[in-house]
Amino acid sequence: MILAIETSCDDTCAAVVDGAEILANVISSQDEAHAKFGGIVPEVASRHHLELTVPVVEAALGEAGVSLDEIDSVAVTAGPGLIGALLVGLSTAKAIAAPRRLPLIPVDHLQGHVAANFLAPQPLEPPFLCLLASGGHTLLAGVRDHGGHEVLGQTLDDAAGEAFDKVARLLGLGFPGGPALQRLAEQGDPEAFEMPVAMARDPGLDFSFSGLKTALVYLARDLGDDGVRERRADLAAGFQAAAVGQLTAKLKRALDRGEWEAVALGGGVAANGPLREAVAALCEERGLRLKLVPLELCTDNAAMIASAARYAPALPYPDYLSFDAFPSSRPPLAAG
Ligand code: KG4
Ligand code: ZN
Repeated sequence: MILAIETSCDDTCAAVVDGAEILANVISSQDEAHAKFGGIVPEVASRHHLELTVPVVEAALGEAGVSLDEIDSVAVTAGPGLIGALLVGLSTAKAIAAPRRLPLIPVDHLQGHVAANFLAPQPLEPPFLCLLASGGHTLLAGVRDHGGHEVLGQTLDDAAGEAFDKVARLLGLGFPGGPALQRLAEQGDPEAFEMPVAMARDPGLDFSFSGLKTALVYLARDLGDDGVRERRADLAAGFQAAAVGQLTAKLKRALDRGEWEAVALGGGVAANGPLREAVAALCEERGLRLKLVPLELCTDNAAMIASAARYAPALPYPDYLSFDAFPSSRPPLAAG
């Protein structure tokens, strides 16, 4: 029985997981607190985590119907993410684990997104290829065992979700922008504007979203405020089609190597309807198995952290008291 805490960005999350079964998965979104700034303010996120972590852990234990005495280990996201936000979760996890002499399992956030696929019902077993696209990361992960993943390609600049959020802001939509942009795009014509196809001729598996974002900035400048208001659905549809096109093109290219028979999606952008449909069509065409985790397991949550913790090394008491959070990817944890 694992109690997990995730506070790497703007959501305060706690979960209780027993094997592959989720007993509780509590997510307290801070979207409202950040919406008035049009994006995540790290200091605001840290302060909210300070207030929310203990109630969210209590809610998870309550929902699971277990007491702390029944918990075998405490898992926590140690990085990458916002350092202040990570430290709140890590300190809370240490404070829960240390007095009970429980082991602590530091987890890599990206491996958490991969491990969302190992949860019940119908866990996906490695090997599989996982397309991870969130507000902070965009990468193709080759998953050969439960303990880690190999980065086969990643974004050279903006993350896909970051581009959705920035373009949404340009179109006057709220934060986070992805879901609002998807809704607006439903009313638009994806071919009304010509969008750049980034990395189309690049033979590798890396992504780039800043050119597409800049193209939208120039289009908006040329259209003027009234023009943007009039054409915002077409702009949203064009952007979304180009972003989904690039994500699926790179996925296709990775699959062309013939090594993978199963595909999974992860990260907040995996909640995008047209992306899910495009990947489903691709897998059907090629006779590949596809795992689409439910939306609440795509975006940040602590159940995925508990899932990764099942296959990660546990630190015994008191070794973890000096363990520190890390803001950017760090090889030892990323590998296992
Ligand atoms: O994984 P996540 O919850 O947090 C990070 O680790 O970043 O991902 C959040 C990102 C945001 O950029 C948000 O706009 C995007 O996922 N997102 C979407 C959709 N739902 C969330 N992007 C496109 N379409 C969606 N439906
Ligand atoms: Zn994430």
